[in-house]
Amino acid sequence: MRDTTGYSTTAVFAAAARAAHPIVDQEPHLLEDPVAQRLCDSTSPSPLSFQVEHPEAPVLAAARLSACARSNFADRTLLDLGIDQLVIVGAGLDTTLQRVHDRFDGQAWLVDLPGVLAWREELFRNAGVADFAHHVAADLRNGLDPHLLKMAGFNTRRPAVILWLGVSMYLPPAQCRRFVADLSGLSHGSVLIFDYVLSPRHRDESGATYANAVATMAGKAGEPWLCTTAPSDARRWLEEAGWYVHQDIDEASVVPPEFWDRQTHLKPMKLIRLVYASLRVERRPT
Ligand SMILES: C[S@@+](CC[C@H](N)C(=O)[O-])C[C@H]1O[C@@H](n2cnc3c(N)ncnc32)[C@H](O)[C@@H]1O
Repeated sequence: MRDTTGYSTTAVFAAAARAAHPIVDQEPHLLEDPVAQRLCDSTSPSPLSFQVEHPEAPVLAAARLSACARSNFADRTLLDLGIDQLVIVGAGLDTTLQRVHDRFDGQAWLVDLPGVLAWREELFRNAGVADFAHHVAADLRNGLDPHLLKMAGFNTRRPAVILWLGVSMYLPPAQCRRFVADLSGLSHGSVLIFDYVLSPRHRDESGATYANAVATMAGKAGEPWLCTTAPSDARRWLEEAGWYVHQDIDEASVVPPEFWDRQTHLKPMKLIRLVYASLRVERRPT
């Protein structure tokens, strides 16, 4: 685990991937993220320049696909549900709120390590971007006590959407399991959207190559990958905590098959799964 200076290399990598996608990939785009671009441009050297100069590099292309597919899935689900409490766990430089702000009528809470939240605040201020969310400092290695959210104005008696994207791989499996159990006391109808990395025997070749490259990069930056899992284990963690799993899908299946025909750099890979689960609601709201 990295030190407490706040800077998260993996958070910057994800933001740069979202910023670059509309610039270097073919339409239709999975999302537009001008705020991520502003955040990148406000740091020197801009992390976006690697993406723009080498869009063909497999590790950069795979990062764009991964960061954009999960956010596309999360944005659509959040807006479809119409739930007005949003908790973004392991927020880093997440820009969901800035992407949906004109369609999301509710409040949001950002959870991350204290140093990361302070760094985020400074970066947004320097970039001149409003960040209208409550900050909740927590180290997920100790679980997430819903009381911390409550102290920041969260209503535990009303449903919430919890986004936990690009984070589970940085926690040991026991902590991932504890995290989903910690949140199981939230209100009926709450929704958890998260991603996890498949264990090696479930990956295809592209997924294995990307995993090696990113895990090495993240490990060198002090953010090693600690959790990979089989779908059956992820489902068991959720179900034993009372979550009902509605979807557990390959990240690449977020997009229609014809999407790939137009892409020069992006290719589907089998490595990361996206999950949509809810508390004690067996039918996915339409
Ligand atoms: C790859 S970034 C993802 C950021 C954001 N969710 C996104 O999709 O752009 C991983 C984030 O998880 C956070 N994280 C990792 N370990 C954590 C821990 N033990 N407690 C709290 N946050 C943690 C990091 O600080 C970082 O912001």
